[in-house]
Amino acid sequence: MREDIFHPGGPLAREVARFGGFLHVVSAAVFGLVMIALVLALVRRAPVSERGMRRGVALATSLTVATLFVFLVYDLSVGRTTGRAPSRGRQLTVIGHQYWWEVHYNDSFPSRQVITANEIVVPVGEPVRLELQSHDVIHSFWVPSLRGKKDLVPGHTATTWFQADTPGIYRGQCAEFCGHQHAKMALFVTAVSPDSFVSWYKGQQAVPPAPSDSLRAEGLKVFLTTTCATCHNIAGTPASGTAGPDLSHVGSRMYLAAGTLKNTPGNMAGWIMDPGAYKVGSKMPSHYGTLTDRQVRAIAAYLEGLR
Ligand code: CUA
Repeated sequence: MREDIFHPGGPLAREVARFGGFLHVVSAAVFGLVMIALVLALVRRAPVSERGMRRGVALATSLTVATLFVFLVYDLSVGRTTGRAPSRGRQLTVIGHQYWWEVHYNDSFPSRQVITANEIVVPVGEPVRLELQSHDVIHSFWVPSLRGKKDLVPGHTATTWFQADTPGIYRGQCAEFCGHQHAKMALFVTAVSPDSFVSWYKGQQAVPPAPSDSLRAEGLKVFLTTTCATCHNIAGTPASGTAGPDLSHVGSRMYLAAGTLKNTPGNMAGWIMDPGAYKVGSKMPSHYGTLTDRQVRAIAAYLEGLR
């Protein structure tokens, strides 16, 4: 898993890494020159004339201004290159929530849209265009190995893009303090071959299979008859809530609660029973006293089967 600005996995991050490298090298050179000037001043015996001093200050000032100007021009050119979104490529809408990411793969046919949460699968070598929105407060989309930060501002749609050139999992992180669990607002970009992407996408479009055993069937029943269904959507069932993440294929995700827990049946059951124990301030209510252990295990088994 990659999360490192110094090891870019795509063209945007490469531009930023190159610019960062340039800043470091120039800054190191300036530091070296200042140290040399300091040592020379210390070992020098004869006093410097007024004219000499004036010249020295003028030279240092103009060098500084020139260096900063070069930084400015380079910075603007990187901003231009990374800001210009390509006209081709898949379009995704990413909506920030306290404290998770809602992701829509847009399609001109609404029935072909895919909705997921916290995990984005993309094909390698293709640009992915993003529309960034926020449901509540300001969040910031940041996948260090793929691109720099871009804010998600309430009431405003920002556009940006990224591209992954090598297959792999890239970890991202909300980069704007958004409340209690800002730190537990991770996202994951999985870059796969175009063929694997197509099969993943088809899988996500499909209605998840019906429960395969009695425990899971009981899980679905409990899910639909308690509060779960008012907040979560599961394709092919009456559950159509939109307050929480879409769970149609939750079993296929790597993590629960935006990178907080590995997605295992045990963690799923623990999370359903008491989300606050893992993520204080999560909007999902505790189910102590409202659901029995057996019911929670049944829901967890059912959700893990949604692949
Ligand atoms: Cu969302 Cu910080």
